[in-house]
Amino acid sequence: VEGLLAAGPLRGVKALVTSGPTFEPIDPVRFIGNRSSGKQGHAIASALARLGAEVTLVTGPVRLTDPAGVTTVHVETAREMLGACLGRLPVDVAVCAAAVADWTVSNASKEKRKKEAGAPPPAIELAPNPDILATLSESGGARPHLVVGFAAETERVLEHAGAKLERKGCDWIVANDVSPATGTFGGDFNTVHLITRAGTEPWPRASKADVAERLAWRIVDALGGHKGEQE
Ligand code: CTP
Ligand code: CA
Repeated sequence: VEGLLAAGPLRGVKALVTSGPTFEPIDPVRFIGNRSSGKQGHAIASALARLGAEVTLVTGPVRLTDPAGVTTVHVETAREMLGACLGRLPVDVAVCAAAVADWTVSNASKEKRKKEAGAPPPAIELAPNPDILATLSESGGARPHLVVGFAAETERVLEHAGAKLERKGCDWIVANDVSPATGTFGGDFNTVHLITRAGTEPWPRASKADVAERLAWRIVDALGGHKGEQE
């Protein structure tokens, strides 16, 4: 297997993939999370590794085993995910598939919150989290050659996803229809469009593994002569 990996088209390429949800603590026993399963991000990390890339997967809490041939870093919060990602730079390609919590609990308590008879429920105060995709897209001299984001949308998918490409400064957005009818969250299939600076491509509904494989081969094409320039 090692020999096959070493011979792959992404040999010498360093890749960073984020996956899964992040958990933002409310107190030591409670958190705010989301329904991301991590299946798509993990599949992308696997696909890149199978093509020979040196892959680091930074993942929030998921019920998946670490993919073979990938260096997996487990984190909990968005802030930890950002730190782990910045610690891996420089890389040639970054794929941000994590469903990063948009907000952290700014009044998280060190001790478990207790009910008090007759008292109103405690207020949870939120503060914005750092945007990992935008940060990687801006990372100056250490910017990956190719930065790919996802856009999870439930309506006006292409319009919102196109706006994200601009706002975040990444190179591609995989626009992902997560409206409940598609069964995307937690499911094994994905309905995506790839949005690049050159236009928008509808991809056929496919398994998350097949979407990952197709994306990995697109990354092979896009990196062309840039592979391994960090070495
Ligand atoms: N993302 C990130 N860090 C964040 C928020 C999002 O890296 N703090 C990345 C996701 O991994 C994804 C892309 O940004 O690749 C888009 O995430 P999404 O939640 O769809 O977009 P937001 O900009 O957070 O906008 P909103 O949730 O309001 O739609
Ligand atoms: Ca978000």
